[in-house]
Amino acid sequence: MKNSGYYSQFGGAFIPEILVSTFDELESAYLQARDDPSFWKEYLELMSTYSCRATPITRLDNLSEELGGASLYVKREDLNHTGAHKANNVMGQGLLTRRMGKKRVIAETGAGQHGVATATMAAKFGFDCTIYMGAHDVARQRPNVFWMEQMGATVVAVTDGSQTLKDAINEAFRDWVTNMDDTHYVLGTACGPHPFPEMVSWFQSIIGIEAREQMLERTGSLPKRVYACVGGGSNAMGIFNGFLDDDGVELVGVEAGGRGEGTGQHAARLAYDEATIGVAQGYKTYFLQDRDGQMQDTHSVSAGLDYVGVSPILSHLHESKRVRFEAATDDEVVAAMQRTVRREGLIPALESSHAFAQAYREAPMMSKDDNILINMSGRADKDIFTVADAINDPKWREFIIDKARGYQQEISDA
Ligand SMILES: Cc1ncc(COP(=O)(O)O)c(C=O)c1O
Repeated sequence: MKNSGYYSQFGGAFIPEILVSTFDELESAYLQARDDPSFWKEYLELMSTYSCRATPITRLDNLSEELGGASLYVKREDLNHTGAHKANNVMGQGLLTRRMGKKRVIAETGAGQHGVATATMAAKFGFDCTIYMGAHDVARQRPNVFWMEQMGATVVAVTDGSQTLKDAINEAFRDWVTNMDDTHYVLGTACGPHPFPEMVSWFQSIIGIEAREQMLERTGSLPKRVYACVGGGSNAMGIFNGFLDDDGVELVGVEAGGRGEGTGQHAARLAYDEATIGVAQGYKTYFLQDRDGQMQDTHSVSAGLDYVGVSPILSHLHESKRVRFEAATDDEVVAAMQRTVRREGLIPALESSHAFAQAYREAPMMSKDDNILINMSGRADKDIFTVADAINDPKWREFIIDKARGYQQEISDA
């Protein structure tokens, strides 16, 4: 166990002996990059020419009026190339991979957004790429799997455990242990052993740096509250980083409430009082686990939030009361997404819709002079199957049945 990378009692690097030198190499490449202003310059250049940075801030004019309280502003991470904040982290790690002289990247993915972003980066940088994805997520995020494969990545459907994100992470670590000489593991969130939580948060801090400046420029003041959804915690750490030192800005992390508190079918590690502190997947944090330390199954309508652990930095910010944690249930999330689509023409991912749901709950209780900022971590193109099912859209059903009939006909004609 290494001593660096602790946030009060959380974090650390609980890794097998065989990976110690790989983590040392990664930490030293990361620290050198942080100390080298030309690295951040190269990163900004890449993000502005390949991924539409700086992403804008949009005011929700109709919903601000309808809710009758605070003015709502949205940071548009959905406008990144590949449709989510995941690109910020992946492109940064791509530059580091090239610096370390490695030629192959692997990644885990839940919603598929991180997998697509990694496959994109690998195609651009000319790396071999393997993506580990729980079989359950492969089934519900087929459009993302399609694009990963088109970009040349091998997608491995992991059939262990609950067949979701934590199982994909375990499998990616197994791969890394056998291929560490030529392979970099592009971990997709602010979790895992040090230096991942700190490094991923650093790349994502670009969201908060831009957002702070944009809010000051646009409204003349800082927002009263900032909302972000929390899976592993990378988009939340990214936007919160811009406001951590501003005591007047309340930071609100919104987790997956799934079917609600006490149902055992959610992924709220910090908002509900059901998770306990433990060590798993190489770091110490709050996990949804049983008394014997066995990880519990989680549930969320959004594939990107149903993770058993949470960033050790967020566990620390929870205990130090700098960040307030809430949870939104599946039903609230689908309703918040539909409301945003209908009233504003924006299509937030199911993950991001958790932050919208909480903001919509709180905005009416706030003053008209207050501004609040919601991080729209991604867009919902990938969620079309899940959302159409959840709202039982008859025209979509008809379209799918028609398509299936067409394929069946092709098979019987062959
Ligand atoms: C659009 C989107 N938002 C949020 C998340 C959750 O991840 P994190 O908590 O690391 O931001 C994901 C994960 O896949 C995602 O695709």
